[in-house]
Amino acid sequence: MSDAEAQKRAAGEAAARLVEDGMVVGLGTGSTAAWFVRALAERKLDIIGVPTSAATAELAAGLGIRVAELGGTREIDLTVDGADEIGPGLSLIKGGGAALLREKLVWEASKRCVVIADAAKHVTTLGKFALPIEVVAFGHKTTSLRICDALVEFDIGMSPRLRVRDGQPVRTDGGNLIYDAACGRIAEPAALAFALKSITGVVDHGLFLDLAELALVGTADGVVTLEP
Ligand code: A5P
Repeated sequence: MSDAEAQKRAAGEAAARLVEDGMVVGLGTGSTAAWFVRALAERKLDIIGVPTSAATAELAAGLGIRVAELGGTREIDLTVDGADEIGPGLSLIKGGGAALLREKLVWEASKRCVVIADAAKHVTTLGKFALPIEVVAFGHKTTSLRICDALVEFDIGMSPRLRVRDGQPVRTDGGNLIYDAACGRIAEPAALAFALKSITGVVDHGLFLDLAELALVGTADGVVTLEP
């Protein structure tokens, strides 16, 4: 196992220890969240999981975790999820796995959100990881031009690129498309988040601001705890 994978696993296992019997738990998406889900399943607690993607729903159900849709159960006590970047104040970039919309819906419906990651994800400024932006398929090229205009206002000159896999546009669980914006450096995350959300055709973006209240980051020296 690589160092990064071991760090993801340690963070996932540490987060699983935060879960208590009887909780409703938001289950994140991605390789780090998968370690959390596996560690959680091993604890054999009486919990209900609310998955943030079809892939996580399948993983959790396969491991014997009872799953429910968002809104199909009590309020979510705790959500644990990975991130592509963890910046100042626990500002985050998410969506590398194209699940950002369902993730944000679950995060925003949770009493408490904990982000887990390997050490490389901890950055001083957000933006090196291209920012995922989910758009509706209808008119998406036009929407991407409007995104471009918005980015220019923030001195970001790179055009967003449609995410493609195996020659085909990636579709999210909701059937939308993803554009990735290579921002380089996001100096004003809150203002950029607002500007992107204001564009008709943009469903959501991967900036998760003021949502995580704790980060568990796997490092070479063990799991480090960060607070906003
Ligand atoms: C899924 O859409 C993402 O938000 C993931 O949580 C994020 O990309 C982190 O993924 P890894 O844990 O696989 O790095």
